[in-house]
Amino acid sequence: MCGIISYVGDKDINSVLMAGLWRLEYRGYDSSGVASVMDGELEVRKVEGRLMNLQEILSDKPLGGKVGIGHTRWATHGEPSDQNAHPQVDCNENIAIVHNGIIENYYTLKEELIKKKHIFKSNTDTEVIAHLIEENYDGDLKESVLKSASRLEGSFAIAVIAASEPDEIVAYRYGSPLIVGLGKNENIVASDIPAVLDHTRRIVILSDGEMVVLRKDKVEFYNNKGERIEKEEREIKWSPTSLDKGKYPHYMLKEIYEQPEVIERNIALRMEDEGLNFGESFHFSPHELAHLSHIVIQACGTSWHAGYIGKYLFESLARIHTEVDISSEFRYRNPVMDGEPLIMAISQSGETADTLAGLREAKAKFLNVLSLVNVRGSTIDRESDSTIYLNAGPEIGVASTKAYTSQIFQLYLFDLYLSKLKWTMDAPEIEKRVKEVNEIPEKMRKILGSADNIRKIAEKYKDSKDFMFIGRGINYPSALEGALKLKEISYIHATGYPAGEMKHGPIALIDENTPVVAIAPHSSVYEKMLNNIEELKSRGARIIIIASLGDKRVKELSNDVFYIPPSEESLSPILIALPLQLFAYYIAVLNGRDVDRPRNLAKSVTVE
Ligand code: AGP
Repeated sequence: MCGIISYVGDKDINSVLMAGLWRLEYRGYDSSGVASVMDGELEVRKVEGRLMNLQEILSDKPLGGKVGIGHTRWATHGEPSDQNAHPQVDCNENIAIVHNGIIENYYTLKEELIKKKHIFKSNTDTEVIAHLIEENYDGDLKESVLKSASRLEGSFAIAVIAASEPDEIVAYRYGSPLIVGLGKNENIVASDIPAVLDHTRRIVILSDGEMVVLRKDKVEFYNNKGERIEKEEREIKWSPTSLDKGKYPHYMLKEIYEQPEVIERNIALRMEDEGLNFGESFHFSPHELAHLSHIVIQACGTSWHAGYIGKYLFESLARIHTEVDISSEFRYRNPVMDGEPLIMAISQSGETADTLAGLREAKAKFLNVLSLVNVRGSTIDRESDSTIYLNAGPEIGVASTKAYTSQIFQLYLFDLYLSKLKWTMDAPEIEKRVKEVNEIPEKMRKILGSADNIRKIAEKYKDSKDFMFIGRGINYPSALEGALKLKEISYIHATGYPAGEMKHGPIALIDENTPVVAIAPHSSVYEKMLNNIEELKSRGARIIIIASLGDKRVKELSNDVFYIPPSEESLSPILIALPLQLFAYYIAVLNGRDVDRPRNLAKSVTVE
């Protein structure tokens, strides 16, 4: 999704804006641009393609001035082009604006403004905002932004500067995130925390319908009526170094290797002698949870796969009926919500538009919402009744890895908690599972230690054009996740399927050109999995099996094996995720893909 950076202060405006845009690059984009005010004039530089193109332009023609805005654009309305890149400006080139979101009534507004003789240069929805502010501008930028915002429908995080007011930035948030960074004689507004962290750890998170006016020595917050409001200041605990790749060639590989440490951190935070602790934002009482009629989980992409694993967990241990929905379906199907359901939203970014909309649907039906998010202060976090944080640290790679295994981990612990409340597991059983949990980080490290074996296997299959991933039970969603990981970073077609379903059609796809990754650790469905693998092998498939260490039987059934340490079946998806992630990573790298920023993808999908 688009990224916004805006700065007022004494540092070199070119380096501040470019550094901010590089920090936002992982969000996904296809063009970029910057603008500033110098000697009463607006200066704009913008270009299609990667940030390097903008860097080259600025090296040749740097911006001047002390106030500026920058943007990475992920095209929604209007193809990627120099002209459609942001900032967008008004007729007099007095107003410059950057925008994240979609203006749903832009067409009506554009017609109205054209009738008033405004000249449009782009075919973006965003340019409408620049001309609307121009139309409402009478010397007070704040007032004109406020008036214009009241006309807009859809989602818009905007930052605006004006040549006529060279010391000021006005930013307004509705539907897409905006973070204010409070510095010493400098202030910043950006789409998310990494772009602010190079300058300050003191942040304020804008809520929908709020506006901020920034000068280098003054920050004022307003509501959508133009009344001054007070906002809570937060301190970011991350260090800027946690945003760097360190010794790794890609963020994704770094984040794959961080997973044991993330689980260890959560064991320390969640598992206290006196019981399980879900943190300061978890407010449900044992009484409320003990009387749950059922759980409905809604999420997107990898988070939906984690939620699907949650279904198997909650129904097998806590014995609670659980539904799982893809958020873009959940939000429009007007689900039947009888009884006392708990709605769960799972989201790494906490800003995914469809998941946020699903959450709001649930709140509109006065239902309790529990969310699992990684980014504290994100919109989903703030609009939930309770939140369990993933504590995974910033996840920069577009392909989710450490957030995914932390999501499964949180779901597993929450399941143990519910099992205790509902007496579906006795104390010795819970004790045994807690011991199992403590062994997970070391088992993960053992798998990561075999990464070279996984790379060698990836080399054998890197030129395949189609893959099938199969699993059963709690590892059917693992197969879905393995397929998504591969396709989203290598651009190779891959499908995840329930192993038992293959003979109902997809087996027609199987021949020696379609490698099959079969997830078959020792488990309650192990024998069934071996039968399914036999079916595929007898039709010429090349089989890669993820199996339990020491399992000899799988050798004659497979062409290649990824071994993982044996574990409790309910915890196996956390371990199985690692070879799937590494397999996808190595195939993508061997195919020369931009692993951290795959084409067409964004890290946080803040539009429908
Ligand atoms: C996962 O690798 C993808 N990047 C994508 O499917 C992602 O999981 C999905 O967009 C949901 O994002 P969220 O967890 O931030 O809500």
